[in-house]
Amino acid sequence: MSKYDKHIFICVNERPDNSKRGSCSKCGGADIRMRFVQLINEYGLKGIIRANKSGCLDVCELGPVVVIYPDAVWYTKVKLNDVDEIFNSNILNNKPVKSLTADKNTWNELQLLKEMES
Ligand code: FES
Repeated sequence: MSKYDKHIFICVNERPDNSKRGSCSKCGGADIRMRFVQLINEYGLKGIIRANKSGCLDVCELGPVVVIYPDAVWYTKVKLNDVDEIFNSNILNNKPVKSLTADKNTWNELQLLKEMES
């Protein structure tokens, strides 16, 4: 049984500037996490919803990356101004934001990007 109703992992992994792969810290991961934390506190959901920093989730090319358990809903290319919508819809109302969630096309795009890197 999960300790939290929703457990949000936000990648904040950092890589050197000369790294081939991007990193979520360079494209706003920490600010995205802080906005989730603010919303959790505003709604009095501390201890019920948790927003954790995560290390690399291996989706770096499409960062920043957020994944929400227990349903394993993945969001890629998240922008700071997407966070409120994700929170309201996915966290408060259990409805993932379809237009922002990863799907088969997302993973195909990731595969292509990784092949181009190698
Ligand atoms: S650096 Fe965020 S998924 Fe790899």
